[in-house]
Amino acid sequence: MEFFDVMENRSSIRKYTDEPLSEEEIRCVATAGLKAPTATNKQEIHITVVKKDDPVQAMIQKDLNPEAAVNFYYDAPITFYLSAADDFGWSDIDAGIAVENMHLAAKALGLGSVILGCMKKVVCGKKKEEYDKLLCIPQGYSYKIAIAVGHADTEKVPHNIDYDRDVTVK
Ligand SMILES: Cc1cc2nc3c(=O)[nH]c(=O)nc-3n(C[C@H](O)[C@H](O)[C@H](O)COP(=O)(O)O)c2cc1C
Repeated sequence: MEFFDVMENRSSIRKYTDEPLSEEEIRCVATAGLKAPTATNKQEIHITVVKKDDPVQAMIQKDLNPEAAVNFYYDAPITFYLSAADDFGWSDIDAGIAVENMHLAAKALGLGSVILGCMKKVVCGKKKEEYDKLLCIPQGYSYKIAIAVGHADTEKVPHNIDYDRDVTVK
């Protein structure tokens, strides 16, 4: 898909089919994250690929909200967890840029995805050490953001923008 079509038609997808992602799709989305620019070219982003039936997903859900009607990853076949170095001041921004690259790459591949920040309080909370191990987060790194990716089982109209309100041309 052409870049501006990807951007125009992108939206967050919260319903997926059971179809798994191919190895190639997983690699392509993760590569898009690693191809993102990082401050001073630090390249400090680490990505952990987690399948939907991995026990860590259920554990996070239990700690987050065991009563929820829909789980935090919307039953997407793959959730990519991005972590980054604790001792680098640009890590949050770098992780945000990387995850958006992955969101757009998923769309370009004909997949759906949704960026996930809601687990931060659980994954970086009092059980951080345990979750760091379960999510294969490198030493000295912390979870920053995640993205659930799969085959969309719904359509969502892209959000409206207000150019005149939000852009000032001086
Ligand atoms: C940093 C960040 C964190 C987000 N965390 C979540 C989340 O935890 N769960 C969720 O369903 N959507 C999450 N989203 C998706 C936003 O809710 C979504 O982008 C917004 O509602 C606009 O919708 P659109 O992406 O379809 O334009 C997150 C988006 C961003 C940028």
